[in-house]
Amino acid sequence: MEPIKVGLLGFGTVGSGTFNVLRRNQEEIGRRAGRGIEITRIAVRNPAKAQKVLVDPLRTVTLTSDFTSVVNDPSLDIIAEMIGGTNIARELVLQAIQNGKHIVTANKALLAVHGTEIFEAARARGVIVAFEAAVAGGIPIIKALREGLTANRIQYIAGIINGTTNFILSEMCERGLDFATALADAQRLGYAEADPSFDIEGVDAAHKATIMAAIAFGVPVQFDRAYVEGITQLHTLDIRYAEELGYRIKLLGIVRRTIQGIELRVHPTLIPAKRLIANVQGAMNAVLVYGDAVGATLYYGKGAGAEPTASAVIADLVDIARLHTVDPNNRVPHLAFQPDRLASTPILPIDEITSSYYLRLRVVDQIGVLSDITRILAALDVSIDALLQKESEFSDKGQISETIIILITHETLEKNINEVISRIEALSTVRSSVTRLRMEALN
Ligand code: HSE
Repeated sequence: MEPIKVGLLGFGTVGSGTFNVLRRNQEEIGRRAGRGIEITRIAVRNPAKAQKVLVDPLRTVTLTSDFTSVVNDPSLDIIAEMIGGTNIARELVLQAIQNGKHIVTANKALLAVHGTEIFEAARARGVIVAFEAAVAGGIPIIKALREGLTANRIQYIAGIINGTTNFILSEMCERGLDFATALADAQRLGYAEADPSFDIEGVDAAHKATIMAAIAFGVPVQFDRAYVEGITQLHTLDIRYAEELGYRIKLLGIVRRTIQGIELRVHPTLIPAKRLIANVQGAMNAVLVYGDAVGATLYYGKGAGAEPTASAVIADLVDIARLHTVDPNNRVPHLAFQPDRLASTPILPIDEITSSYYLRLRVVDQIGVLSDITRILAALDVSIDALLQKESEFSDKGQISETIIILITHETLEKNINEVISRIEALSTVRSSVTRLRMEALN
């Protein structure tokens, strides 16, 4: 059988990694796919530069700076989009779909923001859009959710799905560094981009969580409904206090089914330090999926990098090589559920989520302060799980003794905790704004 022909858009880390792994393992990959998979054209901004790193002694690949010519090339069956971003990538992907080409993409932002439009265009044209590499890099989490766990009602997913922030948090926790120093280390070591804002502000993780929510619950991709909070405001002090209380702070992407709707949120989260996922360190990723039949399952691996991401991209190429001749109605649906059976379950606003909370506040160390605080909590039906009072010390400004109090609450609605915080901050004996972090038991 003729090899299936692939055009690559982009030849950066992921594009070149894909090319190299495909070449290196082509014999085994061909035995699995049932036919060869060949990259024959690559579009890249600077072909001369790409030519220098392209290992292609038989000159089977042509390089071009004309991206449109690749998506319009009738000899190509698959377009692998590796350029990132949401503007040009969207136009090229839609054009390729119109041309009847199957798509492989690692572009989480594109799918989280424009997924509905792209999947609908692909469905109308009968082509596959495969995106294993878009979530957690080399971990085959899309395959697991969409196929391996298909018997289950997924209850929740909690994932460490951004390696850069996990590296930074590990450094803050293990070495006591502050956020800015740990970020500088991540940049020096090549974990963080020159502009790391999507990583540290939680946007990258929210793109991935959005895609997982759609596949887990059979709802459209709705990035605009995701709650996104990064780690830029996180203090090393809270990481230390959390550890004292038996918790570790991780940036989690959380998607959860509740009676009221779906929770879709990314934020720093205290989790019990004894959980396996709490011990995922450095730039590694891990995704915990809880299905009603299977219970808890945990997937661990590299979430970025040339070859781990290539591993996922090539798995998609193999899937397409095997399945593209199948009647589109009999293929695995893009979002795991049949497109005409997607649910309109609402994504809950952050005020409506349920969580337990860590609160840190500085108070004047005098009689009655704690009882004022506990009265506020009781009035709003918020129950205290644990309370830690640090040693008193004199404030910078004078002779008044102050102390830090850490409160851990049982589960409550976020809007209740917001009201608790504003009432506590209004007390004259409270000397700082309240630091609030969400907690997950993950049991
Ligand atoms: N920048 C991401 C991370 C990888 O740090 O995990 C690509 O999504």
